[in-house]
Amino acid sequence: MEMRTLPSVNGNYNLQSYEDTYNGFDWKEAEKAFSWSETGKVNMAYEAIDRHANTFRKNKIALYFRNETRNEKYTFKELKELSDKAGNVFKATGNVEKGDRVFIFMPRSPELYIAALGAVKVGAIVGPLFEAFMEGAVKDRLEDSEAKVLVTTPELVGRVPVDQLPALKTIFLVGANIEEDEKYKDFQKHLKTASKDLEIEWVDRTDGLILHYTSGSTGKPKGVLHVHNAMIQQYQTSKWVLDLQEEDVYWCTADPGWVTGTSYGMFGPWLTGTSNVVVGGRFKPEDWYKTIEDFGVTVWYSAPTAFRMLMGAGDEIIKKFNLTTLRHVLSVGEPLNPEVIRWGMKVFNKRIHDTWWMTETGAHLICNYPCMEIKPGSMGKPIPGVEAAIVDDQGNVLPPNRMGNLAIKKGWPSMMYTIWNNQAKYDSYFLPGGWYVSGDSAYMDEDGYFWFQGRVDDVIMTSGERVGPFEVESKLLEHPAIAEAGVIGKPDPVRGEIIKAFVALLDGFEETDELKEDIRQFVKKGLAAHAAPREIEFRDKLPKTRSGKIMRRVLKAWELDLPVGDLSTMED
Ligand code: PRX
Repeated sequence: MEMRTLPSVNGNYNLQSYEDTYNGFDWKEAEKAFSWSETGKVNMAYEAIDRHANTFRKNKIALYFRNETRNEKYTFKELKELSDKAGNVFKATGNVEKGDRVFIFMPRSPELYIAALGAVKVGAIVGPLFEAFMEGAVKDRLEDSEAKVLVTTPELVGRVPVDQLPALKTIFLVGANIEEDEKYKDFQKHLKTASKDLEIEWVDRTDGLILHYTSGSTGKPKGVLHVHNAMIQQYQTSKWVLDLQEEDVYWCTADPGWVTGTSYGMFGPWLTGTSNVVVGGRFKPEDWYKTIEDFGVTVWYSAPTAFRMLMGAGDEIIKKFNLTTLRHVLSVGEPLNPEVIRWGMKVFNKRIHDTWWMTETGAHLICNYPCMEIKPGSMGKPIPGVEAAIVDDQGNVLPPNRMGNLAIKKGWPSMMYTIWNNQAKYDSYFLPGGWYVSGDSAYMDEDGYFWFQGRVDDVIMTSGERVGPFEVESKLLEHPAIAEAGVIGKPDPVRGEIIKAFVALLDGFEETDELKEDIRQFVKKGLAAHAAPREIEFRDKLPKTRSGKIMRRVLKAWELDLPVGDLSTMED
């Protein structure tokens, strides 16, 4: 089936006409949705939860939660009270003041959201950590951010090297019956007895809200700081792009350890007063379809890898479930193949809407909207209020159909505020003319649609998760058998890319499959399962520049059988 475009679908959408809204839109207009535009008092958690608890939404379900053992729901009023209590629990430690970092390292659960909202209410900066992180990854993040408080579980606390983290003063355990002492506290016990009268900490719009660590091609993961001002765009895009409306039941499949799980798994839906479904546990096609059926999900936000895995599970399964409630389906994180869009049309009779943005950008930037014609394979067009372009390395705007750097004109509300402890890194994102350079290469066609081409740097996107090759290489070098290591992303039909490592061994070690497995486990245990190389290849020596830097592009050329290009900087 040839599929150049998919026509727009008629409906009563929040964004009725893309062009009309784009022309002349001003972010000042969006600010009117918030109570602070009148009171001057700003706090994300107030706007996301408390505000609704005083309206007709007070008994509306804000959170549906389900995992293997729990099945619970919370109204906006209940979430307000519980997060007020959580705020008091944090205050009572004496270790949380405005701007302090409270990290949360645990699987999805109601307590995760209650803790996050409570911390925001007392003015803290929340740092959510993905549950799969192992000791090395946890340490890097808690150390760099100097987190003072951590909320975690008895299962995960063993991965927190407490004695190496002098700033860490209080550790709350969720789901544990423990002997408390100065440092370790039982979160639920304190939550139960805490007062529900909380003085919210009113902040400035540029005060810190959330710290997401993300990977680049060099160096350790960097802390991307977002501020309360992000709510303007998270709210507005939840309206325009997710098209959230009063009766919707919305399900975002992302974990809050990643930016999609906070911007659109927490803040966006609640800012718009929407019922939000959160599901824990591992991916299983049946469970996913059952989630849609059981909760009557109407708007579903997921990722290409997940769609491809569902596709791989076969269409027979789908027939066992009633998925007719679905009215809007979206995707983020990696290129959305036209093939997946075709499958979505076939099995759900729905167009899957691609959205493009990044941890650094805090919210959607280039998207497909329900009211617009979709060109499968394209990320769509910039949201109103955002100017996107393809620029060369000097910041000159290129004409349509020319490949270059995908760049955004500075000034959108949810832009990161800084890189934690590294303002120079933040500054390095910009080119003359005020262009934020994404690190993606793309082109724009004559109709203004953007087409993703690849990363400019070596960052790997595997199953929608961003992995920095440097981090994996550093961990590999800690393995007792390894002399040199280079890591690349290798194209994969399901995961987008997989991590492939090239390693040279130290003298005296033998190139065996057992050693490969041992190396894989070493990275898995030290960093995280998703960072462990699925493929490992032994080489006597790796290509390096004269200054000793591993030449990943040569590794990639080897792997893909491509010309290796200019080798003038390679050591002899
Ligand atoms: O390369 C782009 C890819 O994901 C990168 C950002 O990764 P991260 O900060 O982890 O955020 C992911 C979710 C917001 C981008 O630089 N990416 C994201 N969305 C798309 C995409 N690539 C192609 N198409 C997309 N829709």
